[in-house]
Amino acid sequence: DSAKKGGFEHFMQKEIFEQPDVFYNSFAKKIDEDVISALKKAVLITVVACGTSYHAGIIFRYLMEKYCKIPVRVEIASEFSNFTPCRDSVMIAVTQSGETADTLSALKSSKSENCTTFAITNVLGSSVTRAADHVLYTLAGPEISVAATKSFTAQVAVLLKIVSCLSEYDIEEELSGIHAVLEEALMFDAEPAAELCKNSESMFFVGRGVFYPVSLEGALKMKEITYIHAEGYAAGELKHGPFSLLCENTPVIALCTKDESYPVMMSNIKEIKARGAPVIAIGTGDDIDLMEICDLYIPLPDSSKISEIITASVILQVLAYKTAVLLGRDVDKPRNLAKSVTVI
Ligand code: G6P
Repeated sequence: DSAKKGGFEHFMQKEIFEQPDVFYNSFAKKIDEDVISALKKAVLITVVACGTSYHAGIIFRYLMEKYCKIPVRVEIASEFSNFTPCRDSVMIAVTQSGETADTLSALKSSKSENCTTFAITNVLGSSVTRAADHVLYTLAGPEISVAATKSFTAQVAVLLKIVSCLSEYDIEEELSGIHAVLEEALMFDAEPAAELCKNSESMFFVGRGVFYPVSLEGALKMKEITYIHAEGYAAGELKHGPFSLLCENTPVIALCTKDESYPVMMSNIKEIKARGAPVIAIGTGDDIDLMEICDLYIPLPDSSKISEIITASVILQVLAYKTAVLLGRDVDKPRNLAKSVTVI
């Protein structure tokens, strides 16, 4: 077991550290012309997934709508049977294992409505690959830890590649330095932030725009492996309820990079601080203004806007990992969870 961990203490840690290569390889892989032309024709793309894969799907929605102006609907697979698949449209099932029962059944129901179906999966020959019209493989390699890390990054890489193939915008150029940037992000010392989080009764992860699904995924990682209640929230929605829960024992992780949401995120952080919650902010470079208003500041490495999506996700994984280690949790096998859910 310890040999398989390659010198790391846990599989999750090893898998987190594999991400520079995993992202690079998954994004570099060419997408076949027939796949690109089928996607180009889409007037609506429906993404169906569960758990972490669902969050990768929401990230895709923000990017696809922004750079390609194609509407994207993202649905939780276990709820999909309550909805009507849009006939003759494009459906993408995102599933690391390729075996999640709800995702498979959503794909089959879309097929019966004459949709062109795509599967994004990490497992060669898995059930979803036999059911879908087209298959795109992520190149994450086997993921042992129950909490998904590198498989998520690989999904985001493939989804970004799709956006890149369909858009005029040079996403490849933005991602040209990603390997080095991710290596740098992995050097981050999570201990002070993990110390602040470890005894909390509840936590919130907030962001706007594409950083909203990044915050959902950060909260999911935290709750999966630390057992601390954690919720991801759209930063603008916190005032519609969760404000009543804020106190000195509910740390808020705020994603506040220098994008178009920056000014309004800054005022959201001030509102959170005014209600007594400690704020750990993740921002772009040496952001003095942000440092002044938060309790703990985590700078993202100097990079492009799109790279920040990946680096912020990786930093949140490291934070969850470190917090779980400090709490002595069974990091690779959290209680009550399974790597793959093959029942409806
Ligand atoms: C389980 C795993 C999660 C995963 C989800 C979806 O709940 O514990 O890590 O995100 O299933 O799995 P899939 O294989 O469909 O991506």
